[in-house]
Amino acid sequence: MRFIIRLNFVAIFIALPIVGQSAGFAQSLRQEAQKLGLQVGAAVDPARFSEPLYAETVANQFNMVEPENAMKWPATEPARGQFSFAAGDQVVEFAEAHQMKVRGHNLLWGISNPAWLTEGHFTPDQLRSIMKNHIITVVSHYRGKVFAWDVVNEAFDRDGRLKHTLWYDRPGIGLAGRGTAYLAQAFRWAHQADPNALLFYNDYAAEGLNAKSDAIYAMVKDFKRRHVPIDGVGLQMHLMDLNQIPTSVAANIARLAALGVQVHITEMDVALPVDASGKPLHRADLSRQAKIYGEMATLCAEQPGCTAFQTWGFTDKYSWIPHYTRGKKGDGLLFDSNYHPKPAYRAVLKAFKQAAKKHPTIIPQRLQIERHSSL
Ligand code: XIL
Repeated sequence: MRFIIRLNFVAIFIALPIVGQSAGFAQSLRQEAQKLGLQVGAAVDPARFSEPLYAETVANQFNMVEPENAMKWPATEPARGQFSFAAGDQVVEFAEAHQMKVRGHNLLWGISNPAWLTEGHFTPDQLRSIMKNHIITVVSHYRGKVFAWDVVNEAFDRDGRLKHTLWYDRPGIGLAGRGTAYLAQAFRWAHQADPNALLFYNDYAAEGLNAKSDAIYAMVKDFKRRHVPIDGVGLQMHLMDLNQIPTSVAANIARLAALGVQVHITEMDVALPVDASGKPLHRADLSRQAKIYGEMATLCAEQPGCTAFQTWGFTDKYSWIPHYTRGKKGDGLLFDSNYHPKPAYRAVLKAFKQAAKKHPTIIPQRLQIERHSSL
């Protein structure tokens, strides 16, 4: 008896440092998210996995990862018909080693394409076969490994009109002027390559109710009616201005869920004005940022239709914001550059804990939505 007790004690003692700690922090987002049946994720760069604090923080805090760039066209098809999966595979291996899910990003986008593609002067017929080959090859390679794909990224403008892109009408794949037909085609090919992967449309500035989110809603409704295989909508949630935080996000998630699709918050960050050295100009902004993170985490955690909450990176050491804003903004993530949790981190953790207490039956509700959305 004594021996058994001592063994248990040793087992607990050994298990503690492995689960739920990050950079000396004794709790974890993934533990709390699990109690909600929720995925909590971060965009990652496999080139950083060799940095111990980077890898530890990802493994301990998140139960989902998404390659920030490693599964985009320039990475996966750097030359026509020549595929390269090394970087994406590293993300999958890391996820498998740490019992995490992988979100794939992305299969079709009007920007960030390799020069061979944008400058190739292809005909619509050629583009159609290039697009088909890319989607089928990439999705097949990751079949059973990537559980959800952003099939099409950022196809609508702020007024809810389709953007003019290579895939739509410049020159397009033969469906120019036919609205969302080229998107439907992309979803069908992705589904053909992996019938079990969840297929998402992903966009920014469509978090709340507005012209863009109306257009996305209408597309999802139409796709569902016509059995075009769509399972979810990704709301990027890049919040670049503390004074322009989207409202009616809960209502937008609810109306999408009512159509029978899931919502993922896919790329959240909350940019703060920073000085030349990258430090926030106003200390109080850190608590404003925390409040915003907490509110968004709460509304996702409390709605069964919101099945994943993800940030675009996790440490301010590596974030796209300073580059994108030419040094004017930064500090948008949950961990500072030394991997220390920020007030925003604590706000998300608290939001998850409170939601779990308030909604003890949310796990089966989420599971039901997940099952239903992929029927
Ligand atoms: C960004 C990456 O973070 C950068 O490293 C890269 O240089 C450009 O793309 N919306 C998206 C993401 O869907 O793919 C973008 O990621 C950020 C905006």
